[in-house]
Amino acid sequence: MNKKVALITGITGQDGAYLAEYLIKKGYIVHGVKRRSSMFNTERIDHLYQDPHVENRNLILHYGDLTDSLNLTRIIGETQPDEIYNLAAMSHVKVSFDTPEYTANADGLGVLRILEAVRLLRLSQKTRIYQASTSELYGLVQETPQKETTPFYPRSPYAVAKLYGYWITVNYREAYGMHASNGILFNHESPLRGETFVTRKVTRAISRIALGMQKKMYMGNLSAKRDWGHAKDYVRAMYAILQQDEPSDYVIATGVTTTIRDFIRMSFEAIGVGITFRGEGIDETAVLTSIDEQLFAEKAGEDYLEALRKRIGEDVVGVDPNYFRPTEVELLIGDATKARTRLGWEPEYSLSALIEDMLHNDLKLMKKDSYLKKGGYTILNYFE
Ligand code: NAP
Ligand code: GDD
Repeated sequence: MNKKVALITGITGQDGAYLAEYLIKKGYIVHGVKRRSSMFNTERIDHLYQDPHVENRNLILHYGDLTDSLNLTRIIGETQPDEIYNLAAMSHVKVSFDTPEYTANADGLGVLRILEAVRLLRLSQKTRIYQASTSELYGLVQETPQKETTPFYPRSPYAVAKLYGYWITVNYREAYGMHASNGILFNHESPLRGETFVTRKVTRAISRIALGMQKKMYMGNLSAKRDWGHAKDYVRAMYAILQQDEPSDYVIATGVTTTIRDFIRMSFEAIGVGITFRGEGIDETAVLTSIDEQLFAEKAGEDYLEALRKRIGEDVVGVDPNYFRPTEVELLIGDATKARTRLGWEPEYSLSALIEDMLHNDLKLMKKDSYLKKGGYTILNYFE
C-alpha cells in the first residue's frame, strides 16, 4: 500500500516537531518546509533527520518561506501531499507589534498562498488542509468559555493576520469544496516551547534560579489568564481533524484557565520552593519564603540547596513594563465539546504534568556543560 504523504510548514517549530514525529510513527512520508538560516535551525527535529543518501526516507526537508508563492507552489506540486498542515507563522504576539507588516504577510497572506497553490495545481479534491488558527482570535473575549460560535475580537497584528487566515480557509472550503479546516488551538506548551513564550521563560528561569545561575525573573502582565495544554496532546487533534469525512473548524482546549502568577507559583512549588507575591502593578514582586528540602534535593539536586537556603527572604520575581503589550488578551478559556464529541479528543496532560515535564527538561538542560560555561554560577543577574 502507498504511504500517505504529509507536508508540514513550520516543521522546525514546537508543533511541527511533535507532529512530524507523530505522523512518521503512523507510517507517513513527511515533507517539511524550513527556512534558510545562518545557523542550524533544525534542533527540534534532528532526531528524525535522515541523510539524503538514505533510501526510502520518511522525512524530507525543503527550503521555503510562507512569503514566497512560487516556492510554495513548486514544493506542493513536487510533493503532491495528501495532507498539508500549515503551522508556519511569526507566532509571537508581542513581536507582531514590532513587525506588523511581515506578520500580515506570513500569517495572513501565507495561508492564501497555500490554498491557491493547491487549487491551481488541481489538487483541491486530493489534498486536505489544516490551518493553525488560534484562540488569540477571541482577544477581547465576547463570551466565556470560548467556543466555535463565539465572535472574534482580535487584539494584535498577529491575531488580525490569523483572522484573515481563518476566514480565507473557510472561504476556500465553501467556494471550491476543499477539505480545509481550522484548528482553533488554545495555548499549548512543552519542553520544546520557544524560550520567549511565558511558560518556557518561567521554567527556564526557575531552573536557573534553583541552580544559582540567575537571581530573579522579570515578567509582564501577571494577571492574564491562559488555558494551557501540552503540545503532544494538541498535535493529535490536528491529525484527527484531517481524518474526518467533512472539513470543519474545532476549538482545542483543556477548559482550565490559570493566571501567569499562579503558573509561576505552581512551577516553583513543583521543585519544592515556596514564594509569596507582594505589592501591586509594576511594584509587584515575589519573595522566596520556604524550601521543601527533600523535594528540592530530589528535583534540582542536593548540591544546590545550601546556596538557595541563603536566599530565603529575597525577591525572585519582578515586573518589567517592557513586557506589557499595547493591547492585551486578559482571559482565555476554551470549550472543546465539539472536539470531544466529534473527534473523540481528550487531553492527557494536566497543567501539573505539563509543568513537571518542562521543569525536568530545563533543569537537565541548564546543568549541561555548555550552559554552565556560558553563564555559569557567577553571572547572577542574567535575565531575558
Ligand atoms: P513556533 O514554535 O514559533 O514555530 C513556528 C514555525 O514557523 C517555525 O518552524 C518557524 O521557522 C516557521 N516560520 C516562521 N515564519 C515563517 C515563514 N515566513 N516561512 C516559513 N516558515 C516560517 O510555533 P508553534 O508554537 O509550533 O505554533 C505552530 C502554529 O500554531 C503557528 O502558526 C502558531 O501561530 C499557531 N498556534 C500556536 C499555538 C501555541 O500555543 N503554540 C496556539 C494556537 C496557534 P523557524 O524555526 O525558522 O523560526
Ligand atoms: N511572552 C511573555 N513574556 N508573556 C508574558 C510575560 C513575559 O515576560 N509576562 C506576562 N506575560 C503574559 C502575556 O502578556 C500574555 O498575556 C500571556 O503571558 C501569554 O503570553 P505568551 O506565552 O507569549 O503567549 P500568547 O498567549 O501571547 O500567545 C501564544 O498563544 C497563542 C494562542 O492563544 C502563542 O503561541 C501564539 O502563537 C498563539 O496563537
